[in-house]
Order: sequence, then structure tokens, then C-alpha cells
Amino acid sequence: MSYPYQIKSLEQYHEVYKQSIENPEKFWGEIASHFLWRKPFDNVLDWNFSAPHIEWFKGGQLNITENCLDRWAETQPDTPAIIWESNDINEPHRSISYKELLVKVNQFCHVLKNNGAKKGDRICLYMPMVPELAIAVLACARIGAIHSVVFGGFSAQSIADRINDAQCTLVITADGGYRGAKEIPLKSVIDDALVQCTSVQKVIVLTRTQTPVSMIKGRDCWWEDEINNVENAGNPFVEAEVMEAEDPLFILYTSGSTGKPKGVVHTCAGYMIYTNYTFINVFQYQPGDIHFCTADIGWITGHSYIIYGPLSAGATTLMFEGIPTWPDAGRFWDIIDKFKVNILYTAPTAIRSLMSFGTDVIKRKDLRSLKVLGSVGEPINEEAWHWFHEHIGKGKCPIVDTWWQTETGGILISNLAGITPQKPSYATLPLPGVQPLLVDENGVPILGGDASLQDLPSETVSGNLCIRHPWPGILRTTYGDHERCRLTYFSTYPNLYFTGDGCLRDKEGNYRITGRVDDVLNVSGHRIGTAEVENAINMHTGVVESAVVGYPHDIKGQGIYAFIIFNGVLDDDKLIAQDINQTVSRVIGAIAKPDKIQIVSGLPKTRSGKIMRRILRKIAEGDTDNLGDISTLLDPAVVEEIKTGRI
Ligand code: PRX
Repeated sequence: MSYPYQIKSLEQYHEVYKQSIENPEKFWGEIASHFLWRKPFDNVLDWNFSAPHIEWFKGGQLNITENCLDRWAETQPDTPAIIWESNDINEPHRSISYKELLVKVNQFCHVLKNNGAKKGDRICLYMPMVPELAIAVLACARIGAIHSVVFGGFSAQSIADRINDAQCTLVITADGGYRGAKEIPLKSVIDDALVQCTSVQKVIVLTRTQTPVSMIKGRDCWWEDEINNVENAGNPFVEAEVMEAEDPLFILYTSGSTGKPKGVVHTCAGYMIYTNYTFINVFQYQPGDIHFCTADIGWITGHSYIIYGPLSAGATTLMFEGIPTWPDAGRFWDIIDKFKVNILYTAPTAIRSLMSFGTDVIKRKDLRSLKVLGSVGEPINEEAWHWFHEHIGKGKCPIVDTWWQTETGGILISNLAGITPQKPSYATLPLPGVQPLLVDENGVPILGGDASLQDLPSETVSGNLCIRHPWPGILRTTYGDHERCRLTYFSTYPNLYFTGDGCLRDKEGNYRITGRVDDVLNVSGHRIGTAEVENAINMHTGVVESAVVGYPHDIKGQGIYAFIIFNGVLDDDKLIAQDINQTVSRVIGAIAKPDKIQIVSGLPKTRSGKIMRRILRKIAEGDTDNLGDISTLLDPAVVEEIKTGRI
């Protein structure tokens, strides 16, 4: 097997890119013809960004799981689809072939149907990184239910908010999950969440940790019992539901600069084609390669490059339950040697954390199976890039620095491994079909920041990164609130999708993402809104007001710095900080806990009451001598106090 649309040379990239911009419909229509359709599409694209209204492959009918499973179960039944490595080094790994995966997904489709699930229902998944999570995701897609996977680190409150927003009727979880030395009581968290959720009728619970759990009569059932019932009933095959191209496939919640996280909606055909195209081209996947994406399926990277991208390409995807540093910092490298991994796709925060353990850990590892390395989630600093290149790639593996977002569905800007040039800390060139545009604050295009690659500037330019034409993987709406989608992404600059990222472009046309320009933090590659953290902190009884900013953090990329006005008994700052952390963990999850908490008597505010975050950011960064003009503040003296108390 070979991939007819895999780009093989730099010249071909330029040629394909040009075609994709000159005639996007012809370009994507041709790629779409390589997939399994129940009914061919009538129209490749219908769009306007002002509504926004985006429809790809209208009139087409398909089921994504027939493209991810059935076609490979027929042509390459014994190829491993999923290889799974346990958190526990002593537990045997699992290898599930395409044929077996199809059977398991079909069985679970029956379970879902037996529990009342049907096309269009929203189903929440809160599970550990075990193959059953992928099986459940695919089974939802096969029956046409919309999956909403919630990362296992989120709190009961966060889950309840997400379940209520989507009005999920069913929850799939496990008794618990393992992460390194920790055990996470998933079912118990779900029980706490469901106190607030009236829409949920059934909960299916997988056994993983054998932790005692309370099972509610009529609502809760065990995964294994349900599968047994299906096995006893005979033929497990389930005809896949016929879906319209634009039917929703999933919802994934992500943080923004205001309010609660929003449910980004992706649809069946466009998302499938885009994740497949980008997987095959960015990583230059060759049949037989083992692809190891270290993300959790609770994030978009896991959806697109553990499940849908690789499986739609008939690839072998490796899923790892644990964490890179347990039982020791050699775990990733051991997995690579054990399975002869060819592609490693991970995050800068993991690389920096592993770097801190030194190179002795790596000396005893082979790592020669690796062909391609990938980075995602945040800017990769040059030091981490070179370490990754030299010590893991042994100087011979290209590194793809892939820039994209939950909203983009798949990678938009990246070099193609070994095909287009890499440049440390640059995501480099746009993928075919992607038309980036840098604009200034007023939306005026910046000379040369134009995707046509004409009028190249003689020097590097910088601006806000926008995209000016849809690609098939673009979000279609935010669940239940289309206006919020329009306001967040399509209203800042007319007729452009605004990414929220700042960006440089060099004179060769390479893009370098510099970070968010809105109030969104990127902590260990996870997106967290400052407003969300502030809301959580403010729920603590003693807190009068708070302001949260990011600051550079050696491992996490960005750390969370909270300035808090506290009204309770102020005898021990450490205890207060612990209480605040506990509150944030309860409201959002441990990932949003501030790294630094400074108790202050006031916050720098303008006369109209607006907090001057710019000043707090500078103080948090340690740049206390360049605070700029503070004369417009209501109480300039407070700045001195905050500077002195800086942690
Ligand atoms: O700021 C960019 C950063 O991560 C944001 C998207 O976060 P999320 O939706 O959680 O998706 C992460 C995984 C795709 C972006 O707005 N980001 C992502 N990839 C990169 C990046 N920043 C720099 N370089 C990247 N390669």
C-alpha cells in the first residue's frame, strides 16, 4: 500500500501548495475521493466566515469508522491497529489487530445501543489511557453518537459543567486509572459530578484498578457484564450508521480568554480527511511504521494523532497509559526500544522534563528505530529542540514542529518530515490548503505575511496569526452557542479565522509562533484561561479578588502566578496557598493549580477599575524595572508593595 497524496519532495510540496491555493475545491475533492463514501458528495465547499458557515463535502454520506476499521479489516486484517503499553512495567502489553479492533468496536456498539444510545446523543467519556477508551470513542462514532472526551485530570465540577453544557445522556468511565505511582478514582469523581447532572441516564464502568466503587442501581453497569451479554447474544456485527458529511463527530472542550470552556464541534468528513492528510504528510508515515503519540486522548492531539489520523491511514498507533518519568525517566526510551517505534510525537514540556534528568539515562538505550520526531502544544525552545535532535534523534531524525489548535482539528503549519526544511523553534511552512495571514492590531495585513509567498519581506515580520480560507478540519461551531464561536474566532478581523496566537514570519516564509496574545495560558502544553483560574480562586471564602498571569517556567513553558487579596485570617501564607490550591483543584483540576501565590493588599487598577495585567505580568516575569507608565493607576503605591513581595 502507498498513499497517493503523500508529498515526496520539496518541489512537489511547492507545486501541491500552489494548486491547493489556486483551486482548493479541486485539491480537497481529489483527496476526498480516496475515502469510503456511502454516497458521494455533491459539493466540495460552501462557506462564509462572517456567519460563520462552513460546509465541506455536502451531500456526502459516510461513517468514519468504516474508513478507520472496516476497510483495513478487509485488506490488512492482521496489522496491529493499536499497541498498548501499560503504566505498570510488569503488565503485558496488548496488540489489537484491525480485525480484532473492528470486533471489539462492534461489540461495544451493541452495549451502547442496549443502554439506549442512538445517533445524535452526546456521550461523555472520562477514562484512563487504555484501549477501551479508543474502542468507546470509535463505537460512539459508529452509531453516530457524539463523543465528548474529558481529560482524566479534570475535577468533578469541570466534568459536570461539560456534561450539562452538552446534555450528555450517557457516561463511560472506569473504576479508576493509573498514572505513574498515582491511582485516580475516576468513578468516584463521576459520582460527585453526576449529583449536578440530570441528563445522564446510564453510566458504563470499565474495571481497571479494582478500586471499590459504588454502583447505583438502574444507572450504573459494568463494561465487562455488558460485553458478556453481547457475546452471549451471538453475531456482534453492527452496521455503521450512515452519517451526513457535516453531522457532528465530537465535542471537545477547550479554554478561552473568557467564561467557561467552550465545546469545539468537529464534523465527520472534513475532520477525517484533514487528520488523515496531515498524518500521512507531516510524519511521512510508511506502512508498517509504529507511530507513538504521547498525548492523552482527552486532548485534541490524542483524538487526531492517536486515533483518527493513524487509523484512517491503516497505521499502527501506540498508546501509553503512563507518564514519561515513571518508574524512571527512561520510560519513553524503553517503550521506543521495546516496540521499535519509528515516529515519536511529544510535547516540549515532556522533552524539557526529560532533559533535566541528564543524558546518562539515554546512553543505555538504542533508539535506532526512530525515523521522525515531532513536537506539539507550545513553542519549542532551541535548547530543547537541539537536545531532542541530538540525543533522541541521534542527529538523523527530522523534527516536525507542528502548530495547530483544538479548533483546527489537525496540523496547519509544520515542516514535512525529511521533505521540507526544518528550522529550530519555527513551525515553518503552511500545509497545502492552509493560507496564513499576519495582521496588525487593526487587521491590516502585514507586508509579506501573505501565504502566496510573493512579496516576501526582506526581514522578519511579526503580527497576529489569522487564516483566510477554510480547511476541512476547521471547527464548525461551539456547542449550543454559535454566536460565541463567531465572536471568538471570526469577529476580531472580518473574513478571517483568528487563532489567538502571535507569530513571526522570516524572509523565507517560515512561521514561528510566539505564544498567545489573549488571556490564555499554555501550561505544559495545556490551555488554561486566566479568567477560569481567577473564578476558581475567588470561590475560596477568604478571597476578595484575584488576578492571574503567566510567567516563564523552565519545564512547563508557562507557570501560573496568582495575586490574591485575602480577607480571612492571615497568619500563614503557606497554609492559605495550600487552601487556594485545594480550591482550584476542586473547581478545575490539579492542572490549573497556581505555581506561585502572592497575597497582596491591592491590585494595580486604572481609575475605571480595570486591572493592569501588563504590570502584573512584568512583575511575575521578574522584569520589575520596566513597568512602563503607572501614573494612571488609582493607587500607584500598591505596585511597590507587590514588587517587594514578589515570590
Ligand atoms: O498557542 C498555540 C499553542 O497551543 C495552542 C493550542 O492549544 P490546544 O488547542 O490545547 O491544542 C494543543 C495541541 C494542538 C495554540 O494556539 N501551540 C500548539 N502547537 C504549537 C503551539 N505553539 C507553538 N508551537 C507549536 N508547535
